[in-house]
This record gives sequence, C-alpha cells and structure tokens, in this order.
Amino acid sequence: MRIDIFTLFPEWFGWLSSQRHVSNVLASGSSIECVNFREHTPLTGGQVDDTPFGGGAGMVLRVDVLDSALGARYGVPAERVREQRRVIALAPGGRLLDDALVDELAGESELTLLCGRYEGFDERIIEHFASDVVSIGRYVLSGGEPAAMVICDALMRKLPGALGHEESAEQESFSAALDGDPEYPHYTRPAEFRGWTVPEVLLSGHHARIEQWRRERSRERGLRLREGAGTDPSGR
Ligand code: ADE
Repeated sequence: MRIDIFTLFPEWFGWLSSQRHVSNVLASGSSIECVNFREHTPLTGGQVDDTPFGGGAGMVLRVDVLDSALGARYGVPAERVREQRRVIALAPGGRLLDDALVDELAGESELTLLCGRYEGFDERIIEHFASDVVSIGRYVLSGGEPAAMVICDALMRKLPGALGHEESAEQESFSAALDGDPEYPHYTRPAEFRGWTVPEVLLSGHHARIEQWRRERSRERGLRLREGAGTDPSGR
C-alpha cells in the first residue's frame, strides 16, 4: 500500500513510520510519503491559507494551493486524482472511522490523506478534489495530522506482515470474527495478585469452554456499548 499524506508538518510522521507494526509493513514494500503543500504553493512567502469570506475567526486552506500540490505530485489535474486513488480529506464532520472503514481502506493499493489546519479546507477542495471526508470523532483537532496517524496506524496493522506470529488482527475488537463486538478481557501471570484472581475457566486448559467464555464476554461488552456505556462493567 502506498499512502501519501499532504501536510504542513511532514516531520511529525517520522514517529509513526518508526512504530514496529508500521515499519514492518514499510519494510515489505509499502510506503508512507509526505507532501508538504507549503512547498507547492503558487503564492509568495509560503502562504497556504487565508481569511474566510464572510468573516469569522481562523484561517482556511486555499483551493489553489491544494490544486498545485496535487497536480505536482500526480502529474494530472488535481480534480482527476480522485479517479485514480481515494483522496481523503480529514475533517471532524466526515464519515466516522470504524473497523469496517479501516478494512475498506486497507483494501486499497493507494491512498491520499489531506490534513487540514486551522479552520479546515476551502469547501471547493472537498467538492472537487476529495473522494471521501473522514473523521476520527466528533471533536475538533488543531489539524488533520493526528487523524492521519490514527488511520495509518489502524490500517497498517491489518496488512500482511504488520504483526508478529503471536499476534493477530483477526480476532480484534470490532472485527467480523467477533461479529463487530469489542474484544473479551485478557489476563496474564500472576494468576493471583493481591487476592485478585483470574477467571477459573481461563486456567482450565479447556479450549471449547474458553472460547465460549470469551464469546460471551465479548457479546456482553458489545451490548453495553450499544446501550451507550463503555466496556467497563463498573461504568467507568
Ligand atoms: N481535523 C480536525 N478535527 C478532526 C477530526 N476529529 N477528525 C479528522 N480530522 C480532523
């Protein structure tokens, strides 16, 4: 998978690329490349944004800047790029990221992520250049960069070779294998700590019973989530 990230802060993504599951995927031929749209601005002084028409606080990313940056990167007019690859604008009001969308994106061979800053994008960027608008939650970040990192992290761990043999993304929270429910609770040694014990069934070695116990706990957690609570039975 080849991911291009359009951002004013390419250096932030060095950390992401050094994470083990991401670096594993990068080592097997995938790529994360950043395009600094300040380097492609047709305006003087590296200007990339401007004040909103109609007034109001903040700055808006300019459509002519994205036009230049996308055109320079892909060698076709910016509005044609989305015919070749998904061009995802990151914004708080977009389609909410969930496991199904991560699976969908992990199936793409090429992706472009556009990180907005300040008040976000001139709407014509969304209308004419983007194929999708994606949000990681209904809250406002200072820019799309953390959202781009969340998307890269979540989808790279689904790619072959990301995780070690002993790990698997198959039975993870919200996966089809768990019918979209959160994962069951995990325990490890010591079996008893300060009188806090581990459920007996997990120590039994009885695989079918363990499987059944896990499936039940996972369903319970799913039910609690759908009722609007977290997965913690104490309600925290
Ligand atoms: N940019 C600003 N806030 C965002 C959010 N919640 N999700 C995606 N991109 C964003």
